[in-house]
Amino acid sequence: MIALRLPILSFMVASAMALATSARAEPADTLPGARLYQARCGTCHSLDANRIGPAHRGVFDRAAGTAPGYSYSPALKSSGIIWNAANLDQWLQGPQKLVKGSKMYFVVPSASDRAAIIAYLCAASGK
Ligand code: HEC
Repeated sequence: MIALRLPILSFMVASAMALATSARAEPADTLPGARLYQARCGTCHSLDANRIGPAHRGVFDRAAGTAPGYSYSPALKSSGIIWNAANLDQWLQGPQKLVKGSKMYFVVPSASDRAAIIAYLCAASGK
């Protein structure tokens, strides 16, 4: 029995690794979060230009309030946050709750939408 199961198990591990690798290699624009990002965040943000909100490319692992050339609220600039999946998830549930006095008010109520958007920002940051 054990001898029979082992090859199946190693096949499953190998395919899981192949999947993980192809997910990493996937261009950001083909992720489900790309469409959500355009629809929800695109009125104020883009990846490469500061608009109403700051440019997002590279936001993952970046200190909050440091996109070059964008005029941030003092609250966000002095927040000490380094953006990661966990605090981006909090931010998108209530920017004012995470950083009182910040100048973003937009909330994404759905946890799965937040996860997809965060995965997109991560991929777009080359992480
Ligand atoms: C109505 C306009 C608006 C919308 C919509 C909006 N934002 Fe923002 N966002 C802002 C503003 C303004 C700031 C700057 C906040 C500050 O300086 O306090 C900001 C800041 C941010 C930051 C901090 C970036 C940094 O460099 O520290 C992140 C991350 C962010 N937004 C993500 C998102 C995401 C993801 C969405 C879509 C789900 C979104 N925002 C939708 C206006 C918006």
